[in-house]
Amino acid sequence: MLGRIPSTTHPELLVGSASGDDAAVWRLDDKRALVSTADFITPVVDDPRVWGSIAAVNSVSDIYAMGATPLFALNLVGWNRELPSEALGEVLLGGGEVATEAGFVVAGGHTIDDPEPKYGMAVTGLVDPNRILTNAGLLPEQDLILTKPLGIGIITTAIKAGVASREAEQAAIESMRRLNRSAAEAALAADATGCTDVTGFGLLGHLGRMAVESNLRVRIELDSVPLLPDTIALIEEGIVPGGTRRNLAANEQLLISNGHSERDKLIVSDAQTSGGLVFGVDPHATDETMVQLSAQGHRCARIGRTEVGDPAFDLR
Ligand code: CO
Ligand code: CO
Ligand code: CO
Repeated sequence: MLGRIPSTTHPELLVGSASGDDAAVWRLDDKRALVSTADFITPVVDDPRVWGSIAAVNSVSDIYAMGATPLFALNLVGWNRELPSEALGEVLLGGGEVATEAGFVVAGGHTIDDPEPKYGMAVTGLVDPNRILTNAGLLPEQDLILTKPLGIGIITTAIKAGVASREAEQAAIESMRRLNRSAAEAALAADATGCTDVTGFGLLGHLGRMAVESNLRVRIELDSVPLLPDTIALIEEGIVPGGTRRNLAANEQLLISNGHSERDKLIVSDAQTSGGLVFGVDPHATDETMVQLSAQGHRCARIGRTEVGDPAFDLR
């Protein structure tokens, strides 16, 4: 459906909708460009304050994924009037706490009636137009670094079904609540040019799109991809969100599965809420980048390489 929206161009629009990037980028002058994105989600956990904070972290993630610094945000809220208004206050409080932590300002917003609550933000940031991180910015022979474990979609589905272990639930919440700010700083310090955040389309969908836009092949070593606790066991019990199955179906033409099972293909397709960044670095910079990320508490890993070749997601 997104493909039917006429793509618009403008001399100052440096990144628009055609490349599937995380945010739009608009040049102000030679040194400054505005970055603009909007995102909102349905509840992923029961606690309204925690949900609000996760939604805000998820919204600002697209700013970091472009290598930008957030300036200010507008709240986007769908709220069911039958729910207590104190809970809405908690949601907004959670979002505001994230804004304070990340150093941006919540400058307003808009609320509509909605039977199913939704919360997120439209965020505006600033970037050096010469240092934008894009889907098309991967280069051949780079190491690929992922900064959060996969399995969020599986675990949040298990939470809703009441079958998640305490350990898995806590790990998923901690991961979704983690800002991608210092991960983006590590990517920029390593002179990365290709970066995205792994969200609704899963690792296969987002990294596959980067392979297409960068015109190269990504080779992923499944054994090195970090996973949240219980992810494999839950898939084997059939706890798989519909979005994850749709991601696999939509991107199967990009996937070289090398005989991997359906379970393994679902792992790399899992729809993430507030997932980590994935970016490419020169192999000489990998160790230092991993040390920097680990020091900031990121559960990061080198998950594979980029290679010259027709665009594909080569799962090893
Ligand atoms: Co994104
Ligand atoms: Co987004
Ligand atoms: Co980006």
